[in-house]
Amino acid sequence: MPQPFPMLSRTMWFVTLKNPDEILAPGMTAYVNVILAERKNVLVVPNAALRYKPTEMSPKGTGDTQKAKKERKEPNTGVLYVFENGEPKAIKVTTGISDNRFTEIVSDELKAGDKIILEESKAFCKSSRSRWSNGKTLLMNEVIQITQLTKNYYTDAGEVCVLKGVDMTIQSGEFVAIMGPSGSGKSTFMNILGCLDKATAGEYFLNQTNTSSLSKNDLATLRNTVIGFVFQGFNLLPRKSLIDNVALPLVYAEVSLHERRERAKMVLKSVGLESFGTYLPTHISGGQQQRVAIARALVNHPKLILADEPTGNLDTKTSQEIMQLFSDLNEKEGITVVLVTHEPDIAEYAKRLVNFVDGKIQHDGPTARMMEKAQ
Ligand SMILES: Nc1ncnc2c1ncn2[C@@H]1O[C@H](COP(=O)(O)OP(=O)(O)OP(=O)(O)O)[C@@H](O)[C@H]1O
Ligand SMILES: [Mg+2]
Repeated sequence: MPQPFPMLSRTMWFVTLKNPDEILAPGMTAYVNVILAERKNVLVVPNAALRYKPTEMSPKGTGDTQKAKKERKEPNTGVLYVFENGEPKAIKVTTGISDNRFTEIVSDELKAGDKIILEESKAFCKSSRSRWSNGKTLLMNEVIQITQLTKNYYTDAGEVCVLKGVDMTIQSGEFVAIMGPSGSGKSTFMNILGCLDKATAGEYFLNQTNTSSLSKNDLATLRNTVIGFVFQGFNLLPRKSLIDNVALPLVYAEVSLHERRERAKMVLKSVGLESFGTYLPTHISGGQQQRVAIARALVNHPKLILADEPTGNLDTKTSQEIMQLFSDLNEKEGITVVLVTHEPDIAEYAKRLVNFVDGKIQHDGPTARMMEKAQ
């Protein structure tokens, strides 16, 4: 237990610890987390929100005002920005305890679920006018945060490095297409995003949770509550009805049979297959099967949909219908979508395009459609 040393003007802490195996030697640097306060069930915001201020480039000069600047410097207060009527609006808040990622908000100007601004979309920085044109150009809440991710496979021929230090942040509400040559590591990356595989090194925060610190069970729970998967080959159980296929993720979530079926029927309706619930997958078309797979991905109300070549087995018209469905889920439901495709037309449904080459991100920016929109 650390003890303060009261003789000094600044509080100094002495930390004693056992070192029986003498792993720590004099002169070594060691990091110690000293927990001074702990609170549960409080409203917190990412620290980035308290650092954010609109740039001076905004059309009406909404950059940090003198008042906001002063308030930022006052102890236990901060300024946050929420997006209101197409512009950032400053809110003064009283802050509580903080760690290196989150700060407690003790005043009641904010409530859980409010959308706060963490940063501006770099994609729109060249055009200040369009940057403020609607709320979606400002990014909130990181769903995925990846730092220096690497993945090695060990084969008979030796070690193969497939991902070579990938950094990527995806905010809530984004629609990202991943492209790149065959073998560039797209599926490997998606499998790690989906917690189906682990990285060799690097950090992966999913929904602000560090995945590397989770047990297998906790990882499975996080995956089931946050992510819905859609695969190229649909992966439906051939002998089960569409309702049972869609309800499958709810079995793992221990939802009752009645509720499973009701929820499955509802999502089947949302993808336009209400009257096909009792059919077997083999009795419907490829496009319909992919709709069922999307319904299955949606049944747990995921925040994030991951889709690896979801239109790879479909004809052009059906592919467009499926992409319209993803687009609607992103635009209308606010679901974050990350999908891999080889087809430029399909990638254009997304808002952001990431290009992988040889295990690295070669390009990351808005799709041509979004660039046009911004002009
Ligand atoms: N389990 C594995 N063991 C060894 N090597 C693997 C394994 N999985 C993938 N690889 C190799 O990693 C590299 C990247 O594969 P990955 O499937 O991620 O590529 P991709 O970009 O999705 O390609 P495609 O567009 O063809 O689907 C390839 O060279 C592949 O052979
Ligand atoms: Mg692949």
